[in-house]
Amino acid sequence: MDCRYQFWSGPKGSRPSAETGRKVNAQTVLIVDDDSMTRQMLTDMLRLQSYDVHSAESGEDALRKAKECSPDLILLDLIMPGIDGYEVASQLRADPASRQAAIIMITGRDVTREKTRALEAGADDLLSKPICMAELLARVRMALNSKAYRDRLENERSVLEAEVSRQTAALRLALDESAAAALEIVRRLALAAEFRDDSTGAHVERVSRYAQVIAVAMDLSKEDCRLIRLASTMHDVGKIGVPDDVLKKPGKLTPQETAVMQQHTVIGERILQGSNVSLVKTASEIALYHHEWWNGKGYPHQLIGENIPRFARIVSVADAIDAMTSSRPYRQPVSLNEAFIELEAMSGQQFDPDVVLAAIRAKKDIAAIQLEFRPAT
Ligand SMILES: [Fe+2]
Ligand SMILES: [Fe+2]
Repeated sequence: MDCRYQFWSGPKGSRPSAETGRKVNAQTVLIVDDDSMTRQMLTDMLRLQSYDVHSAESGEDALRKAKECSPDLILLDLIMPGIDGYEVASQLRADPASRQAAIIMITGRDVTREKTRALEAGADDLLSKPICMAELLARVRMALNSKAYRDRLENERSVLEAEVSRQTAALRLALDESAAAALEIVRRLALAAEFRDDSTGAHVERVSRYAQVIAVAMDLSKEDCRLIRLASTMHDVGKIGVPDDVLKKPGKLTPQETAVMQQHTVIGERILQGSNVSLVKTASEIALYHHEWWNGKGYPHQLIGENIPRFARIVSVADAIDAMTSSRPYRQPVSLNEAFIELEAMSGQQFDPDVVLAAIRAKKDIAAIQLEFRPAT
């Protein structure tokens, strides 16, 4: 039989609930004593106070019953056959069903000598035998009040934690959605530019991945490596503003047409400028400066060396690798090895030497990306 029913004979007005057998609003006390007379006496007295009382005749019985009735308070005899009160208290403290319960130990031994050990074992209080009923009742009330206060705090903490985690989840979802939306827009904007210049095939995809593996080889932070991959997809977004007769001309461009084509850097920056979003700010910088040369002979602003933003210097190398290894209407592609020979030849002239060295370190990854996103032929 469930211990919640077993000992029920409570006073009028304190009925067991139909579902659980536990008295509605009553606090639960578990009495643990190997002496049946003491058990009965304590049970009768506490029931008169309308507590929901259960009892156990040994330490083992106590551990079992504590699991069943999750007591608010345990009156625990110290000396019993089998496991003693100290061990029972330690095990009760380790069990989630009784961890929060108040424990009052009762002993016939010298209280002063036992107190430290009892407290260390997890007891909240220690009473001596023979039991003074008035004192016991006062201690029981006090222990149960403290337990109720702890329960209330714990409850408030749980409610607060649940609310914080609910709001955090909602915030995370909103952030995830807005981040996903931003990335989607970035991807589509890059595709829009690529769509106009269809001879480059998967150029945007390869350049952004080359830039990322070069950034990794330069020991840039994980966040920067991710940023350059995403931002570099927009490096040629300004091609949207280049007229078709220049952008799609099959042959070599005249000097005037070249000047028009070079405007894609400035147009790209204009499309992306003025944003507070770091991804778009970085993309704007890359779009404007990815054709600058290390020696100052690039365009549109002839910046020199480290005046060229680092991400743009990386994309410049990534872009050149792909341009050289992709076929164009007016020239054949070169192999990756030949492209790297050219990169090294132009190191310190067109390209940042550190970026060229990083690209060499990342050559295996670049080859794998090239294979995965084959140039359109
Ligand atoms: Fe470009
Ligand atoms: Fe490009």
